[in-house]
Amino acid sequence: MSMRSDMDSSVRSYEEAFSPYWHPVAFSQELKERPLPARLLGTELALWRTGSGVAATRRYCAHRGADLCAGEVSGEGLRCAFHGWTYGTDGRCVRIPSQPGVPIPAAAAVSSFHAAERYGLIWVCLAREPAAPLPEWPELETGKIATVALPRLDWEVSAGRMVEIVLDVTHLSWVHRGTFGNPEQQEVAPYEVERRAGGLRAQISYPALAPALDGAPPKVDKTTLVYEVFYPFAARLTFKPTLFFPHTVYAIASPWSEEKMQCFYFASYHPALRHFPDIFVKSELAILEQDRLIAEGQRPRAHPLDFSGEVHVRADRLPLEYRRGVIALRTGGPVELPTPA
Ligand code: FES
Ligand SMILES: [Fe+2]
Repeated sequence: MSMRSDMDSSVRSYEEAFSPYWHPVAFSQELKERPLPARLLGTELALWRTGSGVAATRRYCAHRGADLCAGEVSGEGLRCAFHGWTYGTDGRCVRIPSQPGVPIPAAAAVSSFHAAERYGLIWVCLAREPAAPLPEWPELETGKIATVALPRLDWEVSAGRMVEIVLDVTHLSWVHRGTFGNPEQQEVAPYEVERRAGGLRAQISYPALAPALDGAPPKVDKTTLVYEVFYPFAARLTFKPTLFFPHTVYAIASPWSEEKMQCFYFASYHPALRHFPDIFVKSELAILEQDRLIAEGQRPRAHPLDFSGEVHVRADRLPLEYRRGVIALRTGGPVELPTPA
C-alpha cells in the first residue's frame, strides 16, 4: 500500500474535521428579535435570542418541516409558524398547542448546537464537544477600541483558500496594484513563521503605496504587517503604517461547504480616528474585490489536502505553514512541510 492511500484512509470528512470548532455564522447586529437563518458546514440553522443569550437549532420543524425562521420567539422558546410547536434552547419541543395536557413525544425535537456571542459575532459549534475555545482577542473587550465591519464576504471560495490569500505575502504587489500594492516591490525578503498553540505568527515589512489626495504620485508607506492565524479559519492582521492609521483586521472564514464560505471581516482602530470607518470600508472593499477575482478562479476550489498538486517557493512559507496545520486537522497526525523550490 502506498503512503498516499494510507493517508487517504485516515482523512476525516470536511464536516467531521471542522464541526468541533467554533465558527461565526452571523454578525450580532443581524440577529434581532426574529429568528435568523444561517448555514454552517452543510447544516441549516435557526439562530435566536433567548432571555439570557443566543441559541442555535436546526432550521426545520420536526413536525412538518416548516421553516422555524418564519416563526417567532416566545417566552418558552422558538415557536413554529405552522402549528405553534415551540422548542426550548435544547431543541426539545415544550408545547404542542393542538393537544395540551398530552405528553410530548420524545421525537418532537430539533437538533440544537452550542451558540455564543462574542466580538460582535454569533458563533456556533456543531459538535457535541468543542475541540478548542473561541479565539482570544482581549483587545476587543476593553471597551477602549472601536470596530467597523464590512458586509459579509459571500465568495465561491473554500475557507482554507480564503485564509491562504489573506496570508499570502507575495500577491500584494500583483493583485493589489491600484489599491495599496507596490509593483516595484516584487522580491519577498525571507521571513520567519512561528508555530504557536492553535496558530501561527509572522511579521513582514512592506512598502505599501498610499494614494496621495491631490493628484500627486502615491507615496511609499513603509508598513509593518503582523499576521496571526487561529486555526482553523481565523486570521488577525495588524497594520502599522507610517502614513495611514494603525489598525487591526480580523478575517474569519466560515465554511458553508468544502468549496464555499462566507467571511466575517472587520477592523479595530483607535476611537479618536473619526474618519477611519469610511476610509477603511471604501478602500478595503476595493482591495477585497481584487482578491475575490483571483480566489474564485482558483482550482481546485477545495483547499488541497496535500502539497503535491502545486509548486511551493520560499515566499509561500506562511500560507504553506497554514496549510500544513489544516491538513493535520483533517488527517489527525503530524504533517511535514514540503521543501520549497
Ligand atoms: S410544521 Fe412546525 S408546528 Fe407543524
Ligand atoms: Fe489580498
